[in-house]
Amino acid sequence: MYQNITTELDGQTLIITVNRPDKMNALNKYVIDELGQALDEVYQNTEIKSAIITGAGEKAFVAGADITEFGGLGKDAGSALAARGNLAVFNKIESCPKPIVAAVNGFSLGGGCELAMACHFRVASENAKFGQPEVNLGLIPGYGGTQRMTQLIGKGKAMELMMTGDMIGAQEARELGLVNHVVPAAELLTKTKEILKKIQTKAPIAISYIIACVNEAARCDTNGFEAENERFGACFTTEDMLEGTGAFLEKRKPAFKGK
Ligand code: COA
Repeated sequence: MYQNITTELDGQTLIITVNRPDKMNALNKYVIDELGQALDEVYQNTEIKSAIITGAGEKAFVAGADITEFGGLGKDAGSALAARGNLAVFNKIESCPKPIVAAVNGFSLGGGCELAMACHFRVASENAKFGQPEVNLGLIPGYGGTQRMTQLIGKGKAMELMMTGDMIGAQEARELGLVNHVVPAAELLTKTKEILKKIQTKAPIAISYIIACVNEAARCDTNGFEAENERFGACFTTEDMLEGTGAFLEKRKPAFKGK
């Protein structure tokens, strides 16, 4: 049924795997659509009590939005691309009344880091790497990263990570509070399933209320998400964004001009 993701029901947990390993599981519009459908399944199917999001292969969880889709986009189309993904996937994950956990098995960059951060919490393999490298492309995060990273690790660290575009390893991500547990790659799914099995023994309505209330604690951010979306679109009017994405696709270093 799906072409770009796989889903497997393991007990009462739906394991959703982004499945484009040759493209580092980058999020193109088809992945976004299919993730949206799988999430609808999580919301609607009463047999599903929780979900895990992970990536296929050993290298990447998700290495970001698919940069090849950025070509030719202007301000409104850039904002619309981000808004569409936020509605179909990122906000749907965050607001899901059933727990959704990211099992981060490798590169978790850009939209991939944002995908992990939209989940209710994160478990990482020892080889996982996190970062928001959009600035290298003349861009900013567009799937809620400026908001959720700040909420998760605090303003100073979020500023540095987003402004440098640096990647951090799993241990540092745990020290910062970005991930809850770091385990050997072979144990990643087992550990994540084990936590969810414990949660499944608790009262489901209480769990859904915890999710809603914890989300409310961060709710003063409504305008922040709008500000991010507006500026994500604005990046598409800059020469630097054309240079940054072009340089990535041509496998060369960008030369930014501040225009
Ligand atoms: N969008 C589109 N394609 C991507 C991608 C992305 N975000 N990330 C990786 N790919 C593609 C590469 O272009 C390459 O395709 P090719 O085989 O057709 O040339 C393939 O996936 C493998 O990636 P490659 O860069 O060769 O692997 P690597 O091991 O040398 O590096 C990364 C891995 C993750 C460090 C590197 O791919 C990368 O920096 N990706 C982009 C991260 C990013 O900027 N994300 C934010 C996007 S807004």
